[in-house]
Amino acid sequence: MLWTIFLLLNGLLILVLHYSTRKRQKNEPPLDKGLIPWLGHALEFRNDAAKFLARMKEKHGDIFTVCVAGHYVTVVLDPNSFDKVLNETTSFDFSRIRAQMVNRVFSLQLPSSNSAPERKWMENHFQGLNLQKLNSSMNIHLHNLILNNPESCCSSEWKVDGLFGLCYSLLFRAGYLTLFERDENVAAVYKEFRKFDDLLYKLARKSLNRGETEIVKLSQERLWKLLSPPYLTGGSPSNSSQQSYHHFLQEQGIDTDMQTKAQLLQLWTTQCNAGPAAFWLLGFLLTHPEAMEAVKSEIRGLSALQDTSLQRPRLNQLGPCSTPVFDSVLNETLRLTAAVMINREVMQDKLLPMADGKEYHLRKGDRVCLFPFLSPQMDPEIHQDPQMFKYDRFLNKNKTLKDEFCKDRKRLKYYIMPWGAGRNSCVGKEFAVTAIRHFVFLLLTHLDLELCNPGAELPPVNSRRYGFGMLHPEGDLLVRYRLKRT
Ligand code: HEM
Ligand SMILES: *[C@@H]1O[C@H](CO)[C@@H](O)[C@H](O)[C@H]1NC(C)=O
Ligand SMILES: *[C@@H]1O[C@H](CO)[C@@H](O)[C@H](O)[C@H]1NC(C)=O
Ligand SMILES: *[C@@H]1O[C@H](CO)[C@@H](O)[C@H](O)[C@H]1NC(C)=O
Ligand SMILES: *[C@@H]1O[C@H](CO)[C@@H](O)[C@H](O)[C@H]1NC(C)=O
Ligand SMILES: *[C@@H]1O[C@H](CO)[C@@H](O)[C@H](O)[C@H]1NC(C)=O
Repeated sequence: MLWTIFLLLNGLLILVLHYSTRKRQKNEPPLDKGLIPWLGHALEFRNDAAKFLARMKEKHGDIFTVCVAGHYVTVVLDPNSFDKVLNETTSFDFSRIRAQMVNRVFSLQLPSSNSAPERKWMENHFQGLNLQKLNSSMNIHLHNLILNNPESCCSSEWKVDGLFGLCYSLLFRAGYLTLFERDENVAAVYKEFRKFDDLLYKLARKSLNRGETEIVKLSQERLWKLLSPPYLTGGSPSNSSQQSYHHFLQEQGIDTDMQTKAQLLQLWTTQCNAGPAAFWLLGFLLTHPEAMEAVKSEIRGLSALQDTSLQRPRLNQLGPCSTPVFDSVLNETLRLTAAVMINREVMQDKLLPMADGKEYHLRKGDRVCLFPFLSPQMDPEIHQDPQMFKYDRFLNKNKTLKDEFCKDRKRLKYYIMPWGAGRNSCVGKEFAVTAIRHFVFLLLTHLDLELCNPGAELPPVNSRRYGFGMLHPEGDLLVRYRLKRT
């Protein structure tokens, strides 16, 4: 017993010494270990990564190394230098960090560390020829849910609801019906999914309390059951994305248990961002009347929509049309509310050249982190008044796309980065943009939609979700809506 305690204490001492004795070496980025050994800045990082990293940027500049829960993380905040990290796929590896996260959150262990075939499958499926099929299927489901389904959405009587819940449930349902092609359990899947998604960031950081652990476990198990393909349990076969993904996993030699878990990962990746994005977009429009008017006037100008009647809605008319105002509104929304964190593991000691000509030495075993939310997206050097929603920020005076933004007098390749970048960027980008545009246009053309309290402001963001894709609001925005009377 004594011996064990002695060993434990010794181990602890060595750990503390190890973590408190790291010194900044020549050519290394500024090092900020925080006051608590090992933990370092973990608590501040968890509670509000944007605020914490902004403070560090103020103190140290565009590159620095912080200690977070035992990891030394070098944060790079100069977008002109992002490619130096993203292009070095052998020195800066992504697969181990991803595998760890996927295991922790989805209990999923995939056998091969090579994710190239999976990426290929996803590109085949969400881009190119298949995209058109998905587009039109998504359009049909959105139409049905919004116009022909008083339960899922609306009737001609006013209804009061939170805008976040409204957007999330409609886009989730349409997305699930499109990709999984199963309508018998969509309501149950959505309910469990939301419970899971609401706690996901805590699960990822291992900070669930006991009650929350129970909730997550339960909804995970229910989702696994709900998602397991009907043709395995005697249902009829379909030709859905889900089934195709299933075949793909089988070909990869993945067992049945892991196949189901992979389906939940797939569900989350494809459904977790669009709903929240649509919420922020509509929320900004409802609280900025001049932006709302600009979008509505753009819609009025689209001939494709002009003769859309309630009785015979014309599907698929909203294909590749030019909607510069909407596109700018969407990018401005994403600039303010998309907060992905791009993490890489340093595989070998490495000199990282920055765009300003300086070079920094990075140590093997450390991590590199890009946090585009802070820069470029909220960087006052790049975007004036970054806290403000300006619907025409990405428009030139002549209504063409404005994509010239500079930092240190260098034109930026990445002036926003909501879709990630490099090998793990979003493969569903085109699909998502089309779906959100269609959703917003449908709502604005067929619904009376207004704030319950005309002076209401957007709720604040949940500051613990930085790093997990689209931000969620803390609270909701109450709206009143009904089908337009024609
Ligand atoms: C506004 C909506 C969306 C945003 C902002 C968004 C953003 C992202 C980001 C940042 C990633 C990289 C994740 C990471 O680095 O861990 C990603 C991955 C992915 N997204 Fe999206 N996404 C959106 C909607 C969608 C939709 C609707 C689909 C459905 C087809 C989709 C499919 C995927 C897939 C399959 C991946 C994984 C790619 C990979 O692992 O290589 N996304 N998305
Ligand atoms: C990184 O790769 C992209 C495309 O593969 C290329 O356009 C870019 O110039 C590269 N950047 C650097 C710094 O090597
Ligand atoms: C299933 O869909 C794929 C494309 O996603 C198509 O190539 C194939 O012909 C379809 N099969 C059937 C039986 O409809
Ligand atoms: C689907 O969206 C893509 C990208 O916006 C577009 O190129 C394509 O024409 C759309 N297809 C349909 C059927 O709407
Ligand atoms: C929106 O941002 C993307 C980069 O994420 C860019 O490719 C696109 O052209 C932008 N559109 C507008 C209207 O600014
Ligand atoms: C629109 O304005 C921008 C700069 O304000 C200019 O670069 C571009 O050439 C103009 N495009 C057209 C079609 O006039």
